[in-house]
Amino acid sequence: MHIKKGDIVEKLVNIGILLSQEKNLRKLLNKIVEEVINFTGAEGGSLYIKKGNTLHFMVFKNRILEERVSPDLLKKRIKKSSFEIKGTSIAGACVKRGEIIAIPDMDRVEELGFKYDRRMDKDLGYKTKSLLSIPLKGPQGEIIGVLQIVNLPEGSFEKEELRLARAMASQAAIALSNALLLDELKNAQLDTIYRLSRVAEFKDRETGDHIRRMSLVSKYIASAMKNDPDFIELILYASPMHDIGKVAIPDSILLKPARLTKQEFEIMKTHTKIGAEILKGAETPILKVAYKIALYHHEKYNGTGYPEGLKGYEIPIEARVVAVADVFDALVSKRPYKEPWPLEKTKEFIVSQKGQHFDPVVVEAFIKVYDKIISLYQKPGTLYSNQDLA
Ligand code: C2E
Ligand code: SIN
Ligand code: SIN
Ligand code: SIN
Ligand code: FE
Ligand code: FE
Repeated sequence: MHIKKGDIVEKLVNIGILLSQEKNLRKLLNKIVEEVINFTGAEGGSLYIKKGNTLHFMVFKNRILEERVSPDLLKKRIKKSSFEIKGTSIAGACVKRGEIIAIPDMDRVEELGFKYDRRMDKDLGYKTKSLLSIPLKGPQGEIIGVLQIVNLPEGSFEKEELRLARAMASQAAIALSNALLLDELKNAQLDTIYRLSRVAEFKDRETGDHIRRMSLVSKYIASAMKNDPDFIELILYASPMHDIGKVAIPDSILLKPARLTKQEFEIMKTHTKIGAEILKGAETPILKVAYKIALYHHEKYNGTGYPEGLKGYEIPIEARVVAVADVFDALVSKRPYKEPWPLEKTKEFIVSQKGQHFDPVVVEAFIKVYDKIISLYQKPGTLYSNQDLA
């Protein structure tokens, strides 16, 4: 390893602190692998998370390959995203034994009883010479994942060096275990939000799919606008509550199988202010954003929306994002008062409203992620998953 002995403890502690500060799971996973590569001087590393009897492939990094191969090709080559835990694979054996598996010479990996697929190496013109597979253990000693390091410098398989690699991995495991717990809590919270929001959205008549989908659409648009996990996550969590004020709208209006009269529409419009009333004064970031979205999701970029007739950037960015997702989902869905619109027509409509109903920047982002968006609508019953948060 490329560091002086005396600095090692300090370095490890610093890595531990650095990692424990990262609460975003996806970023943390990347950071762990980056730090491990830096710390060990290896060429590459990857990380798997264990769920039940499956290992999920989460991160792949390789300094050499990243210089030589385009990110797209690299992505294509890393096909298999999860596999069953078996003792014949190196990572699988690492989980089953709960021990480091050190293979200083990968040419002899079969002699050790492992199956090893060399196709990826071949495809990419790479040679995996040595490999270290380290189990990541949670607080109760349970295996939560596996860290793999490839092509380590000379001497890395000495006992002392392996001890350091293990110490590094245990720092990573603590941070990862916390982040996974937090992620589980967030999933539970999101599930609660979806369930409660369903009460409002057409009372009990609708499935939760609309709310889940429009919240994912909002998230996709947000992620095309800003590479800011907090912004993206807040939109994902807050957007399902945009129509919460509809709880107070009488069914005779809400479920009317025809166009609303002017008077009925005036009542309908109050769902924005009622929603804001329900959400106002809350302390958590999610509910603060939810408040803005509930109040302003029917404002229009050109100032002709309601309830306040705000214009352009006066409308909070979160509400400008949700406006597009809301209308998109409303149009492609069946409503008591309308049949679903075809996807292409809906897209054209959204684009035609660029600068009118919608913020041009948001429409651009919508177009950028359009393929991702429609994939949600081609898989009925799409559920939120960890993958979507990433
Ligand atoms: P929603 O169904 O969730 O629709 C959200 C927004 O999508 C609507 O906001 C509107 O901007 C857009 N949208 C939905 N359907 C259509 C459509 O067929 N054509 C066009 N051009 N845009 C559409 P809006 O207009 O402020 O309506 C707010 C809510 O009021 C709607 O939420 C819905 O719950 C209710 N609503 C609106 N119009 C009618 C109606 O004619 N009949 C009934 N029963 N409800 C209506
Ligand atoms: C092992 O844990 O499998 C060997 C590494 C060491 O003894 O530090
Ligand atoms: C409206 O026209 O204001 C309501 C949305 C629609 O059904 O077109
Ligand atoms: C932002 O992206 O948060 C600022 C720009 C805007 O309000 O659209
Ligand atoms: Fe609404
Ligand atoms: Fe809506």
